[in-house]
Amino acid sequence: MCGIVGYIGNDYAVPILLSALERLEYRGYDSAGIAIIEGDKLVVEKKVGKIRELIRALWGKQYKSNIGIGHTRWATHGAPSEVNAHPHTDERGLFAVVHNGIVENYLELRKELEEKGHHFRSETDTEVIAHLIAEYYNGNLFDAVLKTVNRLKGAFAFAVITPLEKDKIIGVKKGSPLVVGLGKGENFLASDIPAILPYTRNTISLDDGEIAVLKRDSVEVYNFEGVPVSKEVFVVPWDILSAEKGGFKHFMLKEIFEQPKAIADTIGGFLSQDLTLPFEINRINRVITIACGTSYHAGLIGKYWLEKYTGIPNEVIYASEFRYADIPVDENTLILAISQSGETADTRFAALSAKEKGASVIGIVNVVGSSLDREADFTLYTHAGPEIGVAATKTFTAQLAILYLFVQLMARRRGLIDRDGFYRAVEKLNEVTRKVEKALELNGELENLASRYKKFKNFLYLGRWLNYPIALEGALKLKEISYIHAEGYPAGEMKHGPIALIDENMPVVILAPRDRVYEKIIANIEEVLSRKGRIITVGFEGDTVLKNKGEVFIGVPEVGEDFTPFVNVIPLQLLAYHIADQLGLDVDQPRNLAKTVTVE
Ligand code: AGP
Repeated sequence: MCGIVGYIGNDYAVPILLSALERLEYRGYDSAGIAIIEGDKLVVEKKVGKIRELIRALWGKQYKSNIGIGHTRWATHGAPSEVNAHPHTDERGLFAVVHNGIVENYLELRKELEEKGHHFRSETDTEVIAHLIAEYYNGNLFDAVLKTVNRLKGAFAFAVITPLEKDKIIGVKKGSPLVVGLGKGENFLASDIPAILPYTRNTISLDDGEIAVLKRDSVEVYNFEGVPVSKEVFVVPWDILSAEKGGFKHFMLKEIFEQPKAIADTIGGFLSQDLTLPFEINRINRVITIACGTSYHAGLIGKYWLEKYTGIPNEVIYASEFRYADIPVDENTLILAISQSGETADTRFAALSAKEKGASVIGIVNVVGSSLDREADFTLYTHAGPEIGVAATKTFTAQLAILYLFVQLMARRRGLIDRDGFYRAVEKLNEVTRKVEKALELNGELENLASRYKKFKNFLYLGRWLNYPIALEGALKLKEISYIHAEGYPAGEMKHGPIALIDENMPVVILAPRDRVYEKIIANIEEVLSRKGRIITVGFEGDTVLKNKGEVFIGVPEVGEDFTPFVNVIPLQLLAYHIADQLGLDVDQPRNLAKTVTVE
């Protein structure tokens, strides 16, 4: 959802900006650009398309600048084009701005500035920021930025440089993420941590309503009133290797294979975290989970566990639907806000609106220091490491792990299980790590299967109970990276409509572990078979009933009924991955998508 970077130091800025942008490319890849101060001049270079296009355009230009800002764009206002690409400048080319987010009142501001004689070149909301700063500039960039931010409505993060003050970059955060990286004689600015990992692990996360002034040897943070704010330095636990492909063809494949570690690390992190909740757990009589996309699917599975082990009713609602609906929420409601990035606008704003109504909010996030992490009353962390592939994989199974652990914690705190019961549950989850490892051995089989099925234009995924959300997740993975239409459905619902779609051109992936709904799903398989459907079943290894039904049987390691989602999602992730790869598509950066969606 746009990535911004900034560098000030003693090294050449251009290669640092480009490499930082490449690490943020998952946030958007419609166009890219940089602005640097070369001598006394502001130089702006931008290109439509991926960062490699920008790199090509810069090839051979030997810029010596030590200060610059950069941007990779996911278009919101204005089509992907060179004129709409960032950085944007005022018309005299003195102030360059890169921006992530939306300035909601930009039309009003643009009109006001045009009346004052400003001429705009692009269709973007960002350009008003550069013009406003120019309008307010009176020999002090910080003052001009301060006046500007107080005119802007919406959620945004931006960075600005000017050759009139060559010793600083100013970064602003309100609603969109921005982190400062602290180096020796150099400092960095970025939308997300992976951008700066090769240079430093010492960071400052800006809060909403803060402005950072970065110089070579100092970083100062102020609020929007211009009052200095003292900030803590956070040492990022991730190393640079975790943000590299490590010999895999794509980040997505690497991340699929990292799942056993992600689950194990999440269990370890949970057990070593101080789990003192800042609210009375016994007064909670209702849980509402809010999330988007894959995180929403994890929430659906968490609901089954929570209701099974604690009896507390748990609704799971798309965050984008929650905020504007009249859903009753009070101080006895617990909100579980699940977000890998912790920056998804829909999820954050839904959580904040519930908080205003008195609910307690537990965030489940992967990125420590992210906005949701700071806005929630309490945070549970998935320890999956950075996830770069746009399609979420390892963070999904890590979310399942933390949800399962949270449910056991709730059951323990409410006296429904004893200490031994709690640790037995943790141990069972721990064993699942090995089963997931085993399920990954199916990779070759799924690669072959992909070559057989990649030609189909529609897929149906069916599952019941805990595996209904896995059907949704399997369909989402296929859609987002292979652009093949896929639907996930509760298998029992099929006869109420979707069965009409079944014919020999529609592969049907059916999740059928031997659990409490096994007999029912076998009946659903028969229904598909009698309509000449092409069935791929996923069930426990050695299941001879399934082996004799359908075209293909994928055997996953047997696990207890609570844990079937962990092993069943693996072949679905691999199938989606190999189909997209064999179709020659950009697996890690699928079209139209961005890893983190910071607009509503
Ligand atoms: C998953 O593969 C998607 N790319 C997307 O649905 C994602 O899960 C969703 O945007 C939510 O992101 P979050 O977990 O960072 O909030």
